[in-house]
This record gives sequence, C-alpha cells and structure tokens, in this order.
Amino acid sequence: MSIMQRIGILTAGGDTPALNATIYGAVERANQLGIEVYGILKGFGGLLDSRVPHVPLNPLYMTIPELTPMMGGTILGASRTYIDQDETEAIKKITQRLKQLNIEGLICIGGDGTINGMQPISDYFPCVLAPKTIDNDLGLNYIDEPYEWMREEIDSQGESQYRQVSRREEIDLDGMINYVTPGYATAVFVVAQSIQRIRTTAESHRRIAIVEVMGRNSGYIALGAAYGQPDIILIPEVPLDIDLLEERIRALYDLQKNVVIVIGEGVADENGKRLGETSSSFDPAGNVIFSGAAETLKDMLIPRLGDSYFQQKRRHANANAGIFTRKVGHTQRGGRPIRFDRYYASQLGGKSVDLLTQGQNNTVTTLQWSNEKGFTLDSIHGNKLRDNWKMIHARTVHKSFYDSQRFRPSKLGIEYLTPIFSHAVGSDDLELMRNDICNSGNLTTRYQSINVDIHKRLKMLE
Ligand code: F6P
Repeated sequence: MSIMQRIGILTAGGDTPALNATIYGAVERANQLGIEVYGILKGFGGLLDSRVPHVPLNPLYMTIPELTPMMGGTILGASRTYIDQDETEAIKKITQRLKQLNIEGLICIGGDGTINGMQPISDYFPCVLAPKTIDNDLGLNYIDEPYEWMREEIDSQGESQYRQVSRREEIDLDGMINYVTPGYATAVFVVAQSIQRIRTTAESHRRIAIVEVMGRNSGYIALGAAYGQPDIILIPEVPLDIDLLEERIRALYDLQKNVVIVIGEGVADENGKRLGETSSSFDPAGNVIFSGAAETLKDMLIPRLGDSYFQQKRRHANANAGIFTRKVGHTQRGGRPIRFDRYYASQLGGKSVDLLTQGQNNTVTTLQWSNEKGFTLDSIHGNKLRDNWKMIHARTVHKSFYDSQRFRPSKLGIEYLTPIFSHAVGSDDLELMRNDICNSGNLTTRYQSINVDIHKRLKMLE
C-alpha cells in the first residue's frame, strides 16, 4: 500500500442528498491515514478552470466543521460539465494542474456521466469513482449484463441505437453489482411521504392523482414508491398498456372513489415513445430532458374515461377536474439524507480512499448485498460496466422485480427493497423533524448558506 500525501475529491452530475456524507467518509478515512484532501469546486468544471478553485478539507488532518454527513447537497458544488475522450489537450492540462497542487489521486463522486468523464483522466492520473445517484442506475443487475446490449445502425449516416436483449428471467440479489447507490433511499423516503400526502386529498375530493417521480429511464424510484402505498405504479422498463391501465383505474375508482398512480418520468408507450419527451432537448451529459409524463398520461385518460364518467360517478364538472397531476420534483433530490444513505455513503467514501492508496485506477467502489453478510463494500473495474462498444448504460429495473399485471413490485422486487429500507430511517431523522421545522428561530434568522462559509476557505492555484 503506497501512502499518498494528498488527494483530490469532486462531485459531478446532478446532486443527491448523500454527497456530503461520501465526502465526509473519504476525509475521515484520509485523516486516519494522514492524507490531505483537497475538494475541487463544481465538479470537472473546477478542473477545467486554470485556477482550480479548491478547498482544503482536513487541515492538520482534522475535518473542517462545515463538512457534515447530515447535510444534503454538496459543499463542493456540482456541475454537469464533463470531459470528452477526444479533448486530449484539456486532459493533459488537468493532469498538470493536479500535479501542481501535489494531488496524487482523484476521487470523483458521481454516476454514469461522471464515470465517462473520469475515464479519459484515468489514462493519465489515478482516479476512483464513489457512486451516487438518486436514480439507482449506476451498477449492473448481474455481471454479464453489459454484453446483452446490441448496437443497431438505424440509418446510412451511422446513427445507431442500443437494445438490450435480456436472457434472464430472474436475478440473484447477491449477484447485483452495486445493489443500491447513495441518494436512492432518501429519494424514495421523500416520494413515499409525498404519496401519502397526495392520497388523503385525492380521497377527500374523489379524484385520480398522477404523481410523477424522477429516475430517467430507470424505474427504481417508482418501484420504491410502493412504500407510500399508491394503487398503481408505472415504470419506464415496461411499455404502457393503456387498456389494462384504464380497466384497473375504473375498478379502483368504483371501489374507493380515488386512485393514486405513480409514474416514472421515463415511461414510454407501446411504440417506445417516452410520454414526457415533449421536447427533444438534452442536458450537457446528453440525457434527454423529460417534462410531463404525468400530464401526457392525464391527456390520454381524459378522452378514455370521458366527462360523463366523472359527472355521473363523482359529480365532477368534467374529466379534467377529476384527474390531477403532481411532480415530486427536486424535493426528492434535496435535503438531509436518511440514516441508510448517511452510513453507506460515508463508507463508500472511505473505501474510495483505500482503493486509491492500494494503487487502483479507473475503479468504482460498490455496495454489495447478500443474505449471509448483509451490506458489504467492494469494487469493480470501470471497464466491466462497459458494453462491447465501450458504452455504460443506465441500470434499469429487472423485469422480475415488477408485476406488470398488478402494476406493483413483484415478490422479488419486494425482496430487493426490504434490506435497503428495513432500518433506513434513524430516530434522529424523526427527532430533527420534530425540533427543527417549527423552531421559532427560523422565523427570525435568515438562512445561512453553506456556500458563504465555504467561500471563506477557497484557495486558487497560483
Ligand atoms: O439523474 C438524476 C436526476 O435527478 C434525474 O432523475 C432527473 O431526470 C434529472 O436528474 C433532473 O436533472 P436537473 O435537476 O439537473 O434538471
């Protein structure tokens, strides 16, 4: 084990509630090993800036007080700025800057976009990825999953598309690579609470509620939403069967006078068209920006159910008044992480430091699960996540986790969720809620942004 003197750490991509916990775990482990940690500001954007804005996170091997695993977001700031394989000059400059700062290894906290940005740097400089994403899509359902992807040319200009041909009917939970990513548990916690709150108003006003949750093309958040007991869950992995859905809605609405439907933002119709893809805009990581799967579903249901159905059954003015939509939105990505995320995100941060000191490069720290051992830390080489064309695909919910006839998690899906959530919420999480929100000090004190405090510690490369 070669002990390094100083390492760097950055957070890239969309934030999650558990980023500070990962940074904290890394810094605490570095303290034990006598390694200094510099936090690079605003992800890869900070490395592309010639002055490399950074913050020493453990002067004299003591963690700065602003860094706490309890706080959501990231004290380092995040951005969706990524580096491309072809930007050789930029990559060389980045390496030079890191060396000028006497940084000997880099921890990138992120998801699939981040690992793609990290890979080109790792050709010149030791890098380890500590995973994060509320979408729970960085990982594999089984080790040989990347080889199930097929690339097909769709036109003569070389445009291609990927298709996964899954050969497995069921999967082994203990064979999953990265069972769960930091941020997912808290996102599900927020979503489940939102569903419970939507439920009582839908019940009172005899309405059909459609609640849209994040996750892009991956339905893990929607699957976990089952903790809030919605009536129907729609995941992007299963094309929408609108006839079956209508039948189920009618049965439930007749029975209980309200229906709560959860829809993953990436749900597609039977032709593969994403319901929420109303514009063809992309974010800087190349991901399609989704807006409005819930709204589109409402528009599909209105003519099917019809005004008279709502007028006769529940005395609503029309179908439009009887159906409402809500996005849980960014609340599922923000705020204090629950205990599960705090603990395992910190562990993954610590493990990432160990991997760097063991000489690993282009490696991803993982959280594994097995019935015998519970959750354990491990790692996988970044290339093992890549398909034959070097692409990393977002992990999707395996078909065996979802019952598409009953629109809910299958038996195996429930088995998958249980270990994550059995002890996910700590009593301190609830105690804080009791003491914090209604604290009269909140009425008189202005919010103190962490960005102001961190700015005071900011250093630049001379
Ligand atoms: O990947 C995380 C995620 O929260 C997705 O679930 C969502 O589609 C997207 O990011 C939203 O991104 P932004 O908040 O940057 O627009």
